[in-house]
Amino acid sequence: MNNNVIIEVKNLGYKYIQADRVNNRNETTRAYKEALADVSFTVARGEKISIIGPNGAGKSTLLLNLAGLSEEKNRSGEIFISGKIINEKNIYDLREKIGFVFQDPNDQLFSTTVFDDVAFGLINYLNKKKDPRAQDKEFIKKTVSESLAAVNLYGVENSIPHFLSFGEKKLVALATVLSYKPELLFLDEPTSNLDPKNRESFIELIKGLEKTIIIATHDLDLAYEFSDRTIILNKGRIIFDGSTKNILIDKDFLEANSLALPLMFRNNKDKAEI
Ligand SMILES: Nc1ncnc2c1ncn2[C@@H]1O[C@H](COP(=O)(O)OP(=O)(O)OP(=O)(O)O)[C@@H](O)[C@H]1O
Ligand SMILES: [Mg+2]
Repeated sequence: MNNNVIIEVKNLGYKYIQADRVNNRNETTRAYKEALADVSFTVARGEKISIIGPNGAGKSTLLLNLAGLSEEKNRSGEIFISGKIINEKNIYDLREKIGFVFQDPNDQLFSTTVFDDVAFGLINYLNKKKDPRAQDKEFIKKTVSESLAAVNLYGVENSIPHFLSFGEKKLVALATVLSYKPELLFLDEPTSNLDPKNRESFIELIKGLEKTIIIATHDLDLAYEFSDRTIILNKGRIIFDGSTKNILIDKDFLEANSLALPLMFRNNKDKAEI
């Protein structure tokens, strides 16, 4: 495999198993929801990609699959990270390379303090590497503060995550994955509920990170600013994979796929002007 390829997705399919139903002949049938079908693409090391698409298109499902956070039995096709296939055996080794921010930060934060949430991934990572800094309280404290400062949060270490605002939770969730410096970042709706200042500094932060980063977003202005490459999903299939700048000015294509022009192009009677 080409060394420059960090992710290779081959014919990925994913089905959610929905509730079992009993029909009028008393037979149990299982309903499936096909969330992804025939998804193939490769990602070069260091590449930044936006995944866009309407609600239910499969964006979160795709990111969960790339991070090995989905059920293997519901998956078809193959995903390779640095040449290693994602399966139940490999996933524990692969996870240390991966930082994942969930669409809903309530799925991510479970500790009683912000400090513990941000320190958790870092300590786990260091322990796994048998790095003695896992026991170095000063190092952990410094790294947690730096990770929070990277997302503009100061003095929140002792706050209870549950009582933070949604936007603040989102920033803490980002800090939890920045703390152990994974090679790959998968961020699901990273800017949702961020105020304009936090949104701007967050975009600057992720643009500046020399990592492979894939975001799923409804914020098309973010996609435009963040990544040269955009993948568009609709009904679980890739309908576009290419230049962000070309596709996000194509009003007709976007509208045909339940999307709209980025706000920055919606002046002059909705005509894109660049
Ligand atoms: N746990 C689940 N059980 C059953 N179906 C699910 C589950 N999670 C997602 N789905 C279905 O799979 C499809 C894809 O969902 P997914 O959350 O990946 O979409 P999305 O593109 O991230 O949408 P959104 O923009 O709303 O976040 C949807 O039709 C959704 O209803
Ligand atoms: Mg989603």
